[in-house]
Amino acid sequence: MAAEIIDGKAFAAKVREKVATQVARLKADHGLVPGLAVVLVGEDPASQVYVRSKGKQTVECGMNSYEHKLEATTSEADLLALIARLNADAAVHGILVQLPLPGHINEDLVINTIDPAKDVDGFHISNVGLLGTGQKSMVPCTPLGCLMMLRAHHASLSGLNAVVVGRSNIVGKPMANLLLKDSCTVTIAHSRTKDLAALCRGADILVAAVGRPEMITGDYVKPGATVIDVGINRIERDGKTKLVGDVDFASAAAVAGAITPVPGGVGPMTIACLLANTLTATCRANGLAEPEGLTA
Ligand code: GUN
Repeated sequence: MAAEIIDGKAFAAKVREKVATQVARLKADHGLVPGLAVVLVGEDPASQVYVRSKGKQTVECGMNSYEHKLEATTSEADLLALIARLNADAAVHGILVQLPLPGHINEDLVINTIDPAKDVDGFHISNVGLLGTGQKSMVPCTPLGCLMMLRAHHASLSGLNAVVVGRSNIVGKPMANLLLKDSCTVTIAHSRTKDLAALCRGADILVAAVGRPEMITGDYVKPGATVIDVGINRIERDGKTKLVGDVDFASAAAVAGAITPVPGGVGPMTIACLLANTLTATCRANGLAEPEGLTA
């Protein structure tokens, strides 16, 4: 039986709709408008596209978007000073510094200067520590999006075997912590893992976040498993540039029970979860109940 295709584009639209509804309520009941500040240093074309898209969707949800575009030559001290101003600005509830930063700037220092309560990327070391110890935190957007889709797809995640392929700080590690928090039995696999295919074939939930185009083929997939493909890789095929995931979609979909496509799977969920995190940060900052179904 062919796998069910998990439609991330439709799912993200629903998340944005929920966010917009709650933003309207915050405004009506409390006179509050969530504000997201996005900081872009330099002119990386891919980053510019992301930032434009973030700004547009933020405004469409009824929130305020503050864009700070800085020259590639901006000093680390000037960037830290901007973050300090945004930390102190009561109209700003979320701060995102687009990565990567130019080489002369210490990324860890910049991220750890953001007020953890405004760290809507969930990259600050305090949020990493809170998530790692199962406490309430800001959660990185891509793994949060994956978790929302998994929760919608399974009545319960408790006791399921989950294999996360990839150990990055942005996806692999937080994804594993989130699945552990939902009582999965979690294994993190990586480039040195022995007999990866056999390990993956034991997974009820298989999350691919390795950054290697179409590496996970059907023989890595347990029949009926849910496969979440976080990869976004540009490849040349038949003289054209094509976007593919870390999963070989055709062979994996022939075995899986459900699978996310690329594009249109995890990708659209990342910005939707950024908006959800901005709403969550606004509610927490004002002592209000957190939005239901939009947090980990
Ligand atoms: N660059 C690529 N993805 C991301 C992301 O999720 N957050 C930030 N801050 N930068 C990125």
